[in-house]
Amino acid sequence: MAADTLPGGTFTLADDLTVTRMGYGAMQLAGPHVFGPPADRDAAMAVLREAVRLGITHIDTSDYYGPHVTNQIIKEALHPYPDGLHIVTKVGALRDAEGGWPQALAPDQLRQAVNDNLDNLGLDAIDVVNLRVGGFDSPTPGSIAEPFSVLATLQQKGLIKHLGLSTVSAEHIAEAQSIAPIVCVQNFYNLAHRVDDDLIDSLAAQGIAYVPYFPLGGFSPLQSDELRSVAARLDATPIAVALAWLLKRSPNILAIPGTSSVAHLRENVTGAAALTLPEDELARLNGIA
Ligand SMILES: NC(=O)c1ccc[n+]([C@@H]2O[C@H](COP(=O)([O-])OP(=O)(O)OC[C@H]3O[C@@H](n4cnc5c(N)ncnc54)[C@H](OP(=O)(O)O)[C@@H]3O)[C@@H](O)[C@H]2O)c1
Repeated sequence: MAADTLPGGTFTLADDLTVTRMGYGAMQLAGPHVFGPPADRDAAMAVLREAVRLGITHIDTSDYYGPHVTNQIIKEALHPYPDGLHIVTKVGALRDAEGGWPQALAPDQLRQAVNDNLDNLGLDAIDVVNLRVGGFDSPTPGSIAEPFSVLATLQQKGLIKHLGLSTVSAEHIAEAQSIAPIVCVQNFYNLAHRVDDDLIDSLAAQGIAYVPYFPLGGFSPLQSDELRSVAARLDATPIAVALAWLLKRSPNILAIPGTSSVAHLRENVTGAAALTLPEDELARLNGIA
């Protein structure tokens, strides 16, 4: 399967940044609860190599997955990176000794996080850094000008090529855009959780990518009788239907389903690729949220 035959084709976020809309989210490669090393490091590397072999050119990560572990596995598995592969990371949190995810938005913490990403990924500049603010899965009101300006300065210094935002509202996005351009927004969204429908459409009009996290439900897998029955009629898995629905929802949506399994990765990519959603089934899926 080549990049242009992956489900959804490609999306261009900037002149030097075109990715396959079917991407891969690397969070599941660290140990349990995204903490510490995985039980089988070779298996984690095999997932990354399979993603590239399938033609995926968009890998989403963060140095706080593990922490550090996921990025180190990405580097070990894929460095030197193939032409056209884009790694997108995020900063704005840390891991504490209990495995919590405290925010880390102070200027020094952000500079450290960008440097850690560069070191652990083995890069001189990162394609995209998302500023991750907000709560576990929804934005919190308040200015993001100070932390976003720190990243804009690192972009001017050449350490970051493009900027993005995560867990933000339309107001946050407008505030950030008054400081520097953004190329993507990463928020919680899937077939059953569609708070961002209007936001997706307004970002599409601006040519900005929308990258849903928890596309398969994340830590609470998507549960829907309607989804299951549509999938059964289409002879597909509910996961493949959920991914195909996302890719159909808007051309600026980039899918980054996470998995620690080569078999699941293949199943997700080939399953979504094989699916065309008929209008009547699409209407039923649209009614789930
Ligand atoms: N910006 C943010 O704040 C934020 C937050 C969360 C996530 N993210 C990013 O978004 C990406 C996707 O989110 P996510 O990984 O949390 O959740 P997700 O993609 O919604 O779901 C991942 C879960 O689905 C399972 N899964 C995947 N394919 C499967 C299949 N074919 N059959 C059965 N189970 C399957 C995985 O288990 P297996 O490992 O067993 O396949 C894993 O438990 C992450 O990897 C990360 O890069 C960003």
